[in-house]
Amino acid sequence: MDQVTTVRALQARADAERAAGRRIALVPTMGALHAGHLALVDEARRRAQFVIVSIFVNPAQFNSPADLGAYPRTLEADLAACRSHGVSAVFVPPASELYPAGYQSWIEVTELAQPLCGATRPGHFRGVATIVAKLLIAAKPHVAVFGAKDFQQLALIRRLVTDLGLDVEIVGHETVREPDGLALSSRNVHLTRETRAQALVLSRSLSAAQRAIDAGERSRAALEALVAREIAAAPLAKIDYAELRDPETLAPAPAELSGRALLALAVYFPKAGEDQVRLIDNCVLHVPEE
Ligand code: PAJ
Repeated sequence: MDQVTTVRALQARADAERAAGRRIALVPTMGALHAGHLALVDEARRRAQFVIVSIFVNPAQFNSPADLGAYPRTLEADLAACRSHGVSAVFVPPASELYPAGYQSWIEVTELAQPLCGATRPGHFRGVATIVAKLLIAAKPHVAVFGAKDFQQLALIRRLVTDLGLDVEIVGHETVREPDGLALSSRNVHLTRETRAQALVLSRSLSAAQRAIDAGERSRAALEALVAREIAAAPLAKIDYAELRDPETLAPAPAELSGRALLALAVYFPKAGEDQVRLIDNCVLHVPEE
């Protein structure tokens, strides 16, 4: 497995692989790899001969220096995991490689970046869109794989690729969960035994909403209230948002649901120190015709 640290070297490697007729897949990550990331890697391997994993904690997408500082970094374990999952090359650039002195070029996906995580984390999606575009330019993949756990991010990246006419296929992969339903996340390391147990309210509310729909509920307000009650049952949980939205445009879902509706959740839990852990989860609810 190669370790590449510069954009130029990665582009040269990608050119050579393409010239040899091999398909390239990219899996962008911020490291602290878990089974969710590795499922994306396995998916990438099914779709390409040359798999590149990027590991870069992107400062531009963090809102607070504390959050950036607290982000888990486990490079040695990440490299071992990549090796054992058959990754061809890891891209581990220093920040100065992607944001050289004087950096001033940014990409904004205007509307999809507004609601949900965009409302809570101003500038976050500008950082995401910019780094993903830069990683695609550096790795020249035929296909890039992203997780549906970050649903808004995936929607925004699809938009970015369409809008800029980038020659890459974007593949979404379903959310990988612990056996009890908790979505895997690098931020789960900040949970204590108590908050870990209470964090199950996220996946539980997703299933509760689908059950209510299956039992005939169609009102957006009633479903959002049900989810809020479900989350309030965890005394340490504080809702950031719990909203039903259109899965494509992310506009608020209609008052009476039909077809498909995204249920997106972000919930804070206390953690050591003054800071909080913010967990997200989502699912696309299926509303049967009556
Ligand atoms: P990161 O949080 O490290 O996630 C990297 C990729 O793994 C993303 O596509 C994310 O959706 C996916 N992922 C995380 N947890 C998952 C789970 N439980 N199941 C399935 N997929 C999961 O997302 C980012 O990094 C960054 O924003 C990035 C795209 C790398 C840009 O910096």
